[in-house]
Formats: sequence, structure tokens, C-alpha cells
Amino acid sequence: MHLVIIGNGTIGRAIREALHRVDPLREVAMLGRGESIAAVADADVVLLCVKPHQIQDALETLAPTMRPGTTLVSVAAKTTLASLRASLPTAIGVVRAMPNLPVGELAGMTALACESEPKDLERCEELFGTMGRTVRIEERLMDAATAMNGCGPAYVYLIVEAWIDAGIKLGFSYETARTLVAQTLLGAAASVLASDEHPAALKTAVTTPAGCTIAGLMQLEDGRIRSTIVRAVLAAAEA
Ligand SMILES: NC(=O)c1ccc[n+]([C@@H]2O[C@H](COP(=O)([O-])OP(=O)(O)OC[C@H]3O[C@@H](n4cnc5c(N)ncnc54)[C@H](OP(=O)(O)O)[C@@H]3O)[C@@H](O)[C@H]2O)c1
Repeated sequence: MHLVIIGNGTIGRAIREALHRVDPLREVAMLGRGESIAAVADADVVLLCVKPHQIQDALETLAPTMRPGTTLVSVAAKTTLASLRASLPTAIGVVRAMPNLPVGELAGMTALACESEPKDLERCEELFGTMGRTVRIEERLMDAATAMNGCGPAYVYLIVEAWIDAGIKLGFSYETARTLVAQTLLGAAASVLASDEHPAALKTAVTTPAGCTIAGLMQLEDGRIRSTIVRAVLAAAEA
């Protein structure tokens, strides 16, 4: 699959670096503002990694060069399939993707929505599947996906920061606390993905009666962690 990335910002670079990590020999063109777009004519997939307010200008430049059968993928939040489609010839497939920054670690989560040919979604699943997991969703849920997995790493980084502070207060060095926390998160996430059990059942399995885990959990419940997390994600979805 011949891929061209438009936009050399945060997410465009993360995706290119991820693909390079998977296959160091793979050439992936990444075009910044003002660079020649000749490579777009040979692309199977054009991945638009620009801010929502930059989309229209970019599409006006790209549309005349894209050949029929190409798939245009936009990672921009809040930019609908209809508005993308309106700026492109009908023979171009259009997909919305909402990845997150851990694509760079090949541990990304990408939501995909598409109303055109199955091949367009399949190309995106192949592309983003090499950088983590993908899910297909209805387009009406794309803003929700932005709040869930697009913004999600930031929620986790905040929790990690506080948890490391706790480790430092307990006497660990920053480096040791960081490893303890990050690997614990990685392991807990791996058990959720590997198991059919509800998270409540996994929590019960690590909570000894009258032990220290339940003491920590009670503090989190007193801090209303559940409703705080739900309200945070809803606020992001509505922003
Ligand atoms: N960052 C994330 O974690 C993340 C996650 C999921 C989705 N997204 C989405 O990804 C999009 C890009 O986000 P970002 O954080 O990567 O933004 P960014 O760092 O600002 O990168 C956008 C890049 O695109 C360039 N650009 C603008 N118009 C262009 C054009 N016509 N041709 C070529 N390059 C052009 C910009 O150049 P200038 O600096 O000259 O404007 C900039 O380098 C946004 O729509 C965002 O919603 C981001």
C-alpha cells in the first residue's frame, strides 16, 4: 500500500515513525505545507494529518492530483465525512480515523468510520492495525471516540503523574516510581484485554479481605473517582 501523509506535525510524525519502526525499509512520504504534492498522484492512501481548520485548504490543493480509487483518510476531530466528501471527486473513498499518540509505540487505539467502499476501511485497518488496535464505529460516535481514545492518553498521564508522586512520597526515586507505575498500568491493561471478565471481577481477584488493596480502593471511592472519570470523558465529548 502506497501511503502519503499530509502534515508533519505531532500525529503525522508519530505515524511515520511507527511505520518506520515496523519496517525500516519502508519509504513513507510526509509532506509539509508548501511542499510538492506530486507523490499524491501515486498514493493508495492519503492520510490527512492537519488541524480541522486547515482541512479545506489542504483538500482544495490535493483533490485535483488524487487519482480515482485513492482513499483519503482524515484524522481531524469534528470534521464530518460529508464535509470531506463535498470537497473531493466521488471516485475518492473517504474515511475518518481517530488514532491516539501511542501509535508511535505500536500500541495505538484507532476508531474508524466510513460510508464508502469496504476497501477503504480495509486499507485503514491494515494501516492502523500495524500500529495497535482498530475498531469500526458509526460516524455519529466519532466525537465520543475522540473523548475516549483520542484524549485518553492525557487522562492516563495525569494519573501516572500523581501515582509517581505517591511513590516519591513513599521513598522511591522518580525513575523507580515511574517504572513501577507504568508497568503496572501496562499489565492491568493487558489483563483487561486478555480476559472476558468484567473489570470488577478482576479487581475482586486482587483484593484480599481486610487487606491493603481495599484500603486504597476506599480512598479512591471517597474521592468519587468513578463519577469524576465519567464526567471528564463526557466533558471532552461535548467540548
Ligand atoms: N495530536 C494527537 O494526539 C492527535 C490524536 C488524534 C487526532 N489528532 C488530529 O490530528 C490533526 C493534527 O493534529 P496535530 O496535533 O498533529 O497538529 P499539528 O502538530 O499542528 O500538525 C499539523 C501539521 O500540518 C501542517 N499543515 C497544515 N496545512 C497543511 C497543508 N495544506 N499541507 C501540508 N501540511 C499542512 C501544519 O503546518 P503549519 O504548522 O505550518 O500549520 C502542521 O505541521 C488534528 O486534526 C487533530 O484533531 C491529533
